[in-house]
Amino acid sequence: MPIVSPSVLSCDFANIQRDVEMINQSEADWFHIDVMDGVFVPNISFGFPVLEAIKKHATKPMDVHLMIQNPDQYVSDFKRSGADILTVHYEACTHLHRTVQHIKSEGMKAGVALNPHTSIELLDDIIEDLDLVLVMSVNPGFGGQKFIKNAVYKVEQVKNLIHKRGSKAVVEVDGGVNLSTGKELVMAGADALVAGSFVFNSEDPVRTIAQLKEL
Ligand code: DX5
Ligand code: ZN
Repeated sequence: MPIVSPSVLSCDFANIQRDVEMINQSEADWFHIDVMDGVFVPNISFGFPVLEAIKKHATKPMDVHLMIQNPDQYVSDFKRSGADILTVHYEACTHLHRTVQHIKSEGMKAGVALNPHTSIELLDDIIEDLDLVLVMSVNPGFGGQKFIKNAVYKVEQVKNLIHKRGSKAVVEVDGGVNLSTGKELVMAGADALVAGSFVFNSEDPVRTIAQLKEL
């Protein structure tokens, strides 16, 4: 059964507590929280006050995906705001090893996200230190985009690398996940699925989450 991490980016922000409670009550495993700075990606989402508000009600781990430049600068702030897993982008980190150690030293799980054009091979020298690899199946910045199929191949590649190096990293995929793309990803070895618009635009989000769990 895959880990399911609904993306709060697609929730109704005027009813955030209601949507957080819905995820609490569902079979979802984590809360996926997308932080965008308008520099690393062409969109701005939300920051610390919103994370703190979610944390107040969430009964499941907060899986925080940072789409920001210089994430190292804010690692402690994200810990304080409630992050349990903190994922930074490979493309945004000059000293990735240092950033990963920093995240772990704060007691969080450390993840690295790869944009669709970024090769899995670049993780060769860091994979043993990672708790999570986030394969982006859309260009980050917006919910509701079309799934990029090459992500299925990347999942296979990263699973091989993890196996070869004896890493314990979990493979998560983010962008354009629905029942059909989700199935392909799980078959390729994905351990965790992020889903935003597919969950929140559905008539019965709790049921949609249950269907993703069944993949
Ligand atoms: C995209 C975000 C995703 C987004 C996924 O930049 O990282 O987490 O919310 O949305 P869907 O599932 O609608 O593609
Ligand atoms: Zn995300």
